[in-house]
Amino acid sequence: MKLLIAGGAGYIGSVLSPMLQAAGHEVNVVDLCWFGNYLPKSITVTEHDLFTVTPEDLKDYDQLIFLAGLSNDPMAEFDPAMNFIHNGALPAYLAFRAKQAGLSRFIYASSCSVYGYTVDELYDESSPTVCDYPYGISKLLGERGVLQEEGDSFSTIALRQGTVNGYSPRMRFDLIVNTMFKTALSEKKIRVNHPGIWRPLIDVRDTAAAFVRAVEADQDISGVFNVAYDNFTVGQVAEAVRDSVESLFDIEVEIETKSVSDLRNYKVSSEKARQKLGFAPVYGIEEMVQSLAAHRDFYGDFSRKEFYNIQVFKELADKF
Ligand SMILES: NC(=O)c1ccc[n+]([C@@H]2O[C@H](COP(=O)([O-])OP(=O)(O)OC[C@H]3O[C@@H](n4cnc5c(N)ncnc54)[C@H](O)[C@@H]3O)[C@@H](O)[C@H]2O)c1
Repeated sequence: MKLLIAGGAGYIGSVLSPMLQAAGHEVNVVDLCWFGNYLPKSITVTEHDLFTVTPEDLKDYDQLIFLAGLSNDPMAEFDPAMNFIHNGALPAYLAFRAKQAGLSRFIYASSCSVYGYTVDELYDESSPTVCDYPYGISKLLGERGVLQEEGDSFSTIALRQGTVNGYSPRMRFDLIVNTMFKTALSEKKIRVNHPGIWRPLIDVRDTAAAFVRAVEADQDISGVFNVAYDNFTVGQVAEAVRDSVESLFDIEVEIETKSVSDLRNYKVSSEKARQKLGFAPVYGIEEMVQSLAAHRDFYGDFSRKEFYNIQVFKELADKF
C-alpha cells in the first residue's frame, strides 16, 4: 500500500511511519516539522503546509493518515482560532481532496478528549460527546468532517486514542506518564492535581499498531473506534509510575497530591476496535516507563523545548 502520513514527523508518526514501512508499505510524510524531524532517512519528508496539498499531489496514494494539527489542550487554548482551523477544517479539507483524488481510505487521529466529563461510566463510540473545551470540540469537528466523506469506495476511520505515552524518537514530556517519569527522575517527585480523575491510556507502540490494523482492515470497515490499553485514575497512574521508577533507578519518589478541578474525566471501552480491527494492546504503564527508561541518555536534563509542544508553539505563533 502507498501511504501518505500527514503530520508523520510528530510523536506518534515517528513510531508509526517506520512501523508501516517495516510492514511492507510505502510511506511518505508531509509535515511542517514544528518539532524537528527524527524519521529514518528511508522515509521521504516533504516540508510544507498540508493546506497546500492538491488532488494531483494525492493521486498516486492508496490511503492518507492524518496525524497533524494542534495536539493538546494548552496549544488549543493558546490559539483557539488556529486550533479550530488545523484540527477541524484541515482534516475535513484533506478528506475531501483524498476522495476527489480516488484514495480508498482516510484515517483520522481522533482523541478520547471528545467525551469530556463522564461520571463513572464506561463510554463506547455511541455514547454522548459532551466536551466543552477547544481541543475536544475541534477533534470532534475534524472527525465529523472526515466521516462525512465516507462512501462506497472511500472508507473513513477515526481512532479515538487515549492519552498516548512512552518513548518516541520525537519525544514529548507533556503527556501524563512521560511527565511523571520526568519529574520522578529530575525532582524525585510526581505531582497529581486531581487523583480521582479517570483517563484512558495507551502506549505509542500500541496506538501505532492500531493505525496499522486500520490501514490493513477490509475496505468495508469505516467508523469511529476507541483505542486505549485501559482506564486509570490519575492517582493510580502516579503510583504505577513511582513504583516502576523506584525499582528501575533505585531512588525514592514522593507523590504530591492537590485537589485541582479538571474539565476532563473519561473511561472508555475499546471493545469495538478489538472486535472489528483486531486491536490487541500489550503495553501497560510499567512497560511505558521501561521504554522511557531505556532511552534515558537521549533526554539530557529534559529541558529541550521541543519536548513540550506549547513552548515551541508559542515561539511559532508570531510567524503564523
Ligand atoms: N499524543 C497524544 O496523546 C494524542 C492523543 C489523542 C489524539 N492525538 C492526536 O494524534 C495526532 C498526532 O499526535 P502527536 O502526539 O504525534 O502530535 P505532534 O504534535 O507530535 O505532531 C503533530 C505534527 O503535525 C505537524 N503539523 C501540524 N499542522 C500541520 C500542517 N498544517 N501542515 C503540516 N504539518 C503540520 C507538526 O509539525 C507535527 O510534526 C494529533 O492529531 C493529535 O491531536 C494525540
